[in-house]
Amino acid sequence: MSNASLLILPGDGIGPEVMAEVRKVIDWYGAKRDLTFDVSEDLVGGAAYDKHGTPLHDDTMAKAQEVDAVLLGAVGGPKYDSLDFSVKPERGLLRLRKEMDLFANLRPAQCFDALADFSSLKKEVVAGLDIMIVRELTSGIYFGEPRGIFEEGNERVGINTQRYTESEIDRVARSAFELARRRGNKVCSMEKANVMESGILWREVVQKVHDEDYPDVELSHMYADAGAMQLCRWPKQFDVIVTDNLFGDLLSDAAAMLTGSLGMLPSASLGQPMANGRPKALYEPVHGSAPDIAGQGKANPIACILSFAMALRYSFDQGDEAARLEAAIETVLANGARTADLMGPEDGTPMSTTQMGDAIVAALDASL
Ligand code: NAD
Ligand code: IPM
Ligand code: MN
Repeated sequence: MSNASLLILPGDGIGPEVMAEVRKVIDWYGAKRDLTFDVSEDLVGGAAYDKHGTPLHDDTMAKAQEVDAVLLGAVGGPKYDSLDFSVKPERGLLRLRKEMDLFANLRPAQCFDALADFSSLKKEVVAGLDIMIVRELTSGIYFGEPRGIFEEGNERVGINTQRYTESEIDRVARSAFELARRRGNKVCSMEKANVMESGILWREVVQKVHDEDYPDVELSHMYADAGAMQLCRWPKQFDVIVTDNLFGDLLSDAAAMLTGSLGMLPSASLGQPMANGRPKALYEPVHGSAPDIAGQGKANPIACILSFAMALRYSFDQGDEAARLEAAIETVLANGARTADLMGPEDGTPMSTTQMGDAIVAALDASL
């Protein structure tokens, strides 16, 4: 394979720090596995606002539509807190998701053996955990109309609208069932059909897609609040969880802690197939720009590196190379490599972001 194109958008805060480690991994694949990418880099979020006065320049948006895959670091930070809502860094990321129509956001939560002791939950609850949250990413309350802050009588009212069409639910449900068939063959759909009409429709459509086209997959439904509880009580009961945009945001951050750290969770946001058969795709860690540790070399680059592994698997048909990279990460963790987020305050000196990246590249070398 050659000339697959990658657009890298490091973004803000720890985004550029973790992305620098991904670049080392990309370079390794070029040098050692003959897997070469045409890599271009551009600005998103606060970094784009600083240069262009917008969190995503139209030219960057156009580039993102053309490439085979986008890799994004993180956006946002306190510097931009007082900006008008329309130009906040997060709007740049939301525009990418919406305009690329990346409706299926895959957020795997896998607990590496070496970290099972470090989770805030008991080891037996998380050891061997491997679940996949499929979060709907282009609709729901994030995008529904009407929205805004309006005058109402002598006070203001803030409005956001939860809105789902049948076809939006249908397509993300199909993604979840397809994934389940390649994993543990189980889907749990989460909504709040007990209090929300959009939840009633969600449950009906997911059930219909199941009954018509995926009767071989085991399907269950759960209210999302109970789902949050079950995720902490006994997460290994789940295989694939499919849920809406907002619930998926919350549940995936919670799932992150099952794996030990938010610095461990990658994601793939996938859309419709392009002319070349590859899905529109953006890969990014689940975590944000981590302003509290930005610029200090403390960030864990694993979530971002695992996001590149997902790109190898879902965009470039390189499942074996993705597995090689995941195994290299497993090896360095098993050998005791830890960034600060994976250690307690009494546990000695943590590795820096760069040292972790170098250790992973060394483990890749050792895998040959
Ligand atoms: P955050 O994910 O940035 O940080 C939460 C906590 O996790 C912090 O203590 C941070 O230090 C830690 N953390 C996160 N990633 C880490 C890593 N790789 N290694 C070590 N520790 C890590 O969430 P937040 O503080 O709520 O948000 C900060 C900014 O990031 C906000 O502007 C928010 O909107 C933005 N954000 C962006 C994205 C994204 O770009 N996809 C995702 C979430 C939050
Ligand atoms: C995430 C983030 C984003 C979201 C923000 C930064 C727009 O929290 O990717 O999980 O809410 O989707
Ligand atoms: Mn989030």
